[in-house]
Amino acid sequence: MKLNEKYLAVIGAGNIGQILLERLRNAKVPADHLVVCDNDKNRVEAASERFGVRSVILADEAVCAADAILIAVSPKSVIDIIKTFAEWVCPCRLVISFAAGVPLAKIEEILQPGTPVARIMPNAPSLIGKGINPVAYGANVTPEARELVEAILGILGESLVARDDQMNWCVGMIGAAMRSVLPILEGMTRAGIEAGFSEADSRKMAAQVMLGTATLALKEDLTFNQMKALTPMETLDEEALSQLFFKAAQTAQEKISGLQQKICSGLNN
Ligand SMILES: NC(=O)c1ccc[n+]([C@@H]2O[C@H](COP(=O)([O-])OP(=O)(O)OC[C@H]3O[C@@H](n4cnc5c(N)ncnc54)[C@H](OP(=O)(O)O)[C@@H]3O)[C@@H](O)[C@H]2O)c1
Repeated sequence: MKLNEKYLAVIGAGNIGQILLERLRNAKVPADHLVVCDNDKNRVEAASERFGVRSVILADEAVCAADAILIAVSPKSVIDIIKTFAEWVCPCRLVISFAAGVPLAKIEEILQPGTPVARIMPNAPSLIGKGINPVAYGANVTPEARELVEAILGILGESLVARDDQMNWCVGMIGAAMRSVLPILEGMTRAGIEAGFSEADSRKMAAQVMLGTATLALKEDLTFNQMKALTPMETLDEEALSQLFFKAAQTAQEKISGLQQKICSGLNN
């Protein structure tokens, strides 16, 4: 299966929609194999111009006839969007949702029986192909559909298979995680500036330490304590900091679970 032979519709030209378009174009998917749709006219026109792809409305034939429809809109809009095209989309097409809080079963029940659906929890480092994108597969995903999902995941970075009921935790761990770790980089950069380094050098030092630490953590043979022992000086209440990040993921999980309940009961507006 060659990704650049597929026709794809990206619904939503916000952060994630633009990351998808950027990576798809970067992967040499021809511009005329892609369409983009968004209810914000300025945003969709800007994306259309930037990536050289056609902007369309949801009911456009190019959406219904796409090999895969990639949904990257706010969670509360997902159900209405799928309802708009559900009856026109042949069950041979693949639907991929990047939205938090919308379970696979809810999407499957709106589409025609047998339509393959996958859910991906995106994250912003995918902009440079360095994301980690958990994916949950619906009941109707065929080997061909899975191959297409994997090809899309491949241009975004790493991936791993998750259960649908793990996705709300993944929002905090993955989806919102960049936001959580950026303040660490910001603080370390400020320390470099205080020491008289340029902002660029300070940022480089902070980012490289984080990158190096993360790369070390990917080595399975070192425990967290073994890694900590490599740097004996403790300057923070590490237990409190670790708990803070755990709580951040838990808070995101609770928020999204609440949103999911509303979406599933039709009370999201
Ligand atoms: N950004 C992340 O790092 C991240 C991480 C994990 C998960 N996600 C998920 O990814 C999805 C997209 O996030 P995002 O950050 O890209 O959001 P975003 O920047 O707000 O973009 C969403 C876009 O979808 C458009 N939209 C909403 N309803 C629509 C409709 N009915 N028809 C057409 N377009 C519509 C929005 O337009 P309006 O503004 O006019 O409504 C907006 O332009 C969300 O479901 C989010 O849960 C994002």
